[in-house]
Amino acid sequence: MMLDRLKQLETEAREALGKVHDGAALEQFRIAYLGTKGQLKAAMTWLKDAPKEIKPQLGQSLNKVKADIEAAFNELQAKMGNAKPPQEAAPGRARIDVTEPGLPPRMGRVHVIQQVIDELVEVFGRMGFDLAEGPELEDEKHNFNDLNIPLQHPARDPLDNFYIDEHHLMRTQTSTVQIRVMEKTRPPIRIVSVGRVYRPDTHDATHSSMFHQVEGLYVDRNVSMVDLKTTLIQFAKAMFGEDAQVRLRPSYFPFTEPSAELDIQMKIRGQMQWVELGGCGLVDPNVFQAVGYDAEQWTGFAFGLGVERIAMRRYGVEDIRWFFENDVRFLRQF
Ligand code: DAH
Repeated sequence: MMLDRLKQLETEAREALGKVHDGAALEQFRIAYLGTKGQLKAAMTWLKDAPKEIKPQLGQSLNKVKADIEAAFNELQAKMGNAKPPQEAAPGRARIDVTEPGLPPRMGRVHVIQQVIDELVEVFGRMGFDLAEGPELEDEKHNFNDLNIPLQHPARDPLDNFYIDEHHLMRTQTSTVQIRVMEKTRPPIRIVSVGRVYRPDTHDATHSSMFHQVEGLYVDRNVSMVDLKTTLIQFAKAMFGEDAQVRLRPSYFPFTEPSAELDIQMKIRGQMQWVELGGCGLVDPNVFQAVGYDAEQWTGFAFGLGVERIAMRRYGVEDIRWFFENDVRFLRQF
């Protein structure tokens, strides 16, 4: 009876093999019949339950059927060009195409605002300006009092500031760092400071409640508007190209006298245009007095420019909010 079952199994196996036409089916056949859990493997265990008298014959037949099926399988496999689904390739024999191009890993990049900041610091660094820092959470003294902004000044309005308590607020300008540096150093001073400032503006294409400023301060003897303008021209040429021009428009700031608004002429999409970048002027004697400098002896210039504005003009970015939305499709362009 076992011999009959074996005969039947052999017939089935040959029929199944006859229907194999591709690598996947061949592999399925191998698993079903020849694999460790395959039917031929299972048939080998019949031997131990077989009656003694038929054991020798059954054993011979089993070996022969197994060898025949294996031979038929190998023959077919050779004919099909060793076709095998890749995932079933034996360990150590996995075919790896070393000539196939790899998948490039996605690299992060420096944020466009940080790129502009790095460049600003580098340009002013070449002109001898050291980097200074100050806190973003400030007191009235550094944000207003010592910058000659009187108690009644509208700039102190609670609606225009992020007050933390009665006397502390998120700084509205990096001019605070001028005071912090002068408090602890003696002239001559030549620093720039870059950082975040905060104003409760309604968000739109040109307003954000947080943005960056670059502040400059130069204190020495006999500093004049000529020094200021020369520095700004140098900066403009380094940052925006040799044909960049600088224009100062009279303005007012409590901490400078005289004060000016800085325009830079630069190429925007191939066309020269005047672009307003921030304020500047000669340090007001009241500011020197507040930090304990002799205003008769020392003179200085200062400027404060919007970093996003520089970036927007330089790259033709039309909406300030794009800088902070962290959409990689935008950020990847820089
Ligand atoms: N702090 C001013 C602002 O935020 C900009 C400014 C004007 C800075 C004149 C200065 C300066 O250092 O001298 O609008």
